[in-house]
Amino acid sequence: MNAGLQTELAGIKLRTPLIAASGTFGFGEEYLDFVEQADLGAIVVKGMTREPRPGNAGRRMAETPAGMLNCIGLQNPGVDVFLQDILPRIKRLEIPIIVNINGNVQEDYAYLAEALDASGVAALEVNISCPNTRHGCMAFGVVPETAAAVTAAVKAKTKLPVIVKLSPNVTDVAEIAQAVEAAGADAVSLINTLVGMAIDTHTWKPVLGNIVGGLSGPAVKPVALRMVWQTAQAVKIPVIGMGGISSASDAVEFLLAGAKAVAIGTANFVNPQAITDIATGLRRYLEQQQLQSISQLVGKVRIGG
Ligand SMILES: Cc1cc2nc3c(=O)[nH]c(=O)nc-3n(C[C@H](O)[C@H](O)[C@H](O)COP(=O)(O)O)c2cc1C
Repeated sequence: MNAGLQTELAGIKLRTPLIAASGTFGFGEEYLDFVEQADLGAIVVKGMTREPRPGNAGRRMAETPAGMLNCIGLQNPGVDVFLQDILPRIKRLEIPIIVNINGNVQEDYAYLAEALDASGVAALEVNISCPNTRHGCMAFGVVPETAAAVTAAVKAKTKLPVIVKLSPNVTDVAEIAQAVEAAGADAVSLINTLVGMAIDTHTWKPVLGNIVGGLSGPAVKPVALRMVWQTAQAVKIPVIGMGGISSASDAVEFLLAGAKAVAIGTANFVNPQAITDIATGLRRYLEQQQLQSISQLVGKVRIGG
């Protein structure tokens, strides 16, 4: 049934190219009443930190035309609780589990890589959009040198495949992708959210407790697609594309742009069975196009001629 949808990423076998994006699928369990396990390629769990984090105070989400803003603030139980209580439960699922790791300083990432190395998870996704508290809170992922340094620090502490999740809040995403590839990244994923803001015109105050937040959903799709296309041309490692995917046709666009797999985020909030619907649509698309495998789509956008 899934033969045409299978793919492989840095040694991880995926039953479908559809990955649940970090922060939008909890630890997976809540969604499995809606999504068929066979339709899910992998689950990226909510961003993990060394210590538990309560998240940001005040309002954390706001709807925008064709999207949403969030400033959750990496609320999570911390890696110890994850390893002791949560992972043993979700490891029973027949779905690769990818852990999204986050830190304030480079050593936090290295610590998490070591702590998770022998845990049985399938891979690590390194969220380099976090503010580096040692360098004026500028995100690790906006400068090639710090993006590469954090990648190398993680690689030094784990044998797991390392996926580096790129920030779109940069001038040249391809340059950052090349820097993390050179530092040993096994794959890159993009995009994380774009920094945005909303203001309440009655109170004249920012809507979000954190003032600014991350924009996601269909509103960001054209930007994400452009960045995935640019990145896929710049690196040899596999690219996981995401940003506003909510239909099979959206997913096909990202595959044509060069993504080997795609992640679904905000769409899960709108339609909890989005991943199953997209998998069904992809199977139908392959049939209609008389293709044997989604690999026949990857990077095949026709430019010129
Ligand atoms: C509520 C929410 C929480 C998120 N939390 C994380 C997170 O913890 N770590 C991370 O790397 N990305 C996080 N993201 C970003 C998503 O994984 C994804 O990169 C982004 O939303 C773009 O995809 P989408 O438009 O399909 O949602 C979060 C997004 C949302 C909407």
